[in-house]
Amino acid sequence: MKTISDIEDLRRIAARRVPRMFYDFVDSGSWTEQTYQLNQTSFKEILLRQRVGRSIDGRSLKSKMLGVDVSMPVAIAPIGLAGMVHADGEILAAKAAVAAGVRYTLSTLSIASLEDIQRATDAPFWFQLYVMRDKQFLLSLIDRAKAAGCDALILTLDLSVLGNRFKDAKNGLSTPPKLTISSLSNMLTKPKWCMGMLRTHRRNLGNIIGHAKGVGDVHSLSGWIGQQLNPALSWKDIEWIKARWGGKLVVKGLLDAEDAQTAVLAGADAIIVSNHGGRQLDGAPASVAVLPEIVDKVGRATEVWIDGGIRSGQDVLKAIALGARGALIGRAHLWGLGAYGEEGVKLALELIRKELDLTMAFCGHTDINSVDRSVLMERTIPRTDYCVA
Ligand code: FNR
Repeated sequence: MKTISDIEDLRRIAARRVPRMFYDFVDSGSWTEQTYQLNQTSFKEILLRQRVGRSIDGRSLKSKMLGVDVSMPVAIAPIGLAGMVHADGEILAAKAAVAAGVRYTLSTLSIASLEDIQRATDAPFWFQLYVMRDKQFLLSLIDRAKAAGCDALILTLDLSVLGNRFKDAKNGLSTPPKLTISSLSNMLTKPKWCMGMLRTHRRNLGNIIGHAKGVGDVHSLSGWIGQQLNPALSWKDIEWIKARWGGKLVVKGLLDAEDAQTAVLAGADAIIVSNHGGRQLDGAPASVAVLPEIVDKVGRATEVWIDGGIRSGQDVLKAIALGARGALIGRAHLWGLGAYGEEGVKLALELIRKELDLTMAFCGHTDINSVDRSVLMERTIPRTDYCVA
């Protein structure tokens, strides 16, 4: 393995190893990709306050998310089709998360199924639910998540309609993918990826095929997914889903302080400030830009987590300093996965852990749970009147 210094190194290797169609699926946002880019640049604009002359011996990153011990306040975000970035991708990422002492979230639209992850890790994980129109299927998914040992349900609310992602349309990324001569010949230049895919039987949406009515194979799937996005989804649905689930419920995809308050009233045990990694509403603010205002509004009533643009431990520290109790990583772990499979995800998590630890030390702290806004240069903190007049 080459010397890997940061997540950007992993991204460069993934770009060489993963077929263009799936690499672009990951490294893209919707429309002009303004929000996708803002997620990262907004973290860079926040500057850290170096402190000296304090003992920084005996540091700890241990924390809790939803009352569960984690080795650092980081978790893996739900990713649809992660099993196309690398064969058995979700299983490998979930194993890496267990080894690192952090939580893994499985997407409804994953290639590996809930049961695959349970068998491979035998450890609790989180399940992300898309609220589809087929209520019977929804109920069965909730029950399967319980049976698989998931101890939190993450409800994604920002995908009732689909953002327009130009690269996917150009690359023919649909379900099933439209394989053109150019995409096929590109795949053939990625022999390790091809071998992995030939060896595994997991190439379909494992939570859906054979479980949803009328979806027996990949060809019936595309029509089904098109019909299943649910534009009628509303806060009322949260209540019955929470009642059916009966466990910890996390609401994902919030960018507005008023919506955050509504989520708390609907019973969210945690919320995720997120713009879906810039893949839905282009022109929306960066997640970190609205984090302070949302923390001000609901941070005492619920756990506020964040995702979007986190590429380093420094970004995690900034999010925690602004009041987040956890940070989820999407692309940062996918690039590790695309580069080196399970080892790559472990590497991504270790890079983030080391950067977080050292940055915390430079800022004069020894316990991640005591980090607050004072580690940031005050004038670079995003203003807190973004959402509410
Ligand atoms: C996602 N995301 C996502 N979210 C979700 O709730 N369910 C899903 O199935 C997916 N699928 C998905 C696929 C891909 C390729 C990406 C990049 C993202 C959004 C994801 O959970 C998270 O919000 C973002 O990835 C966070 O941004 P970063 O860390 O990727 O910048």
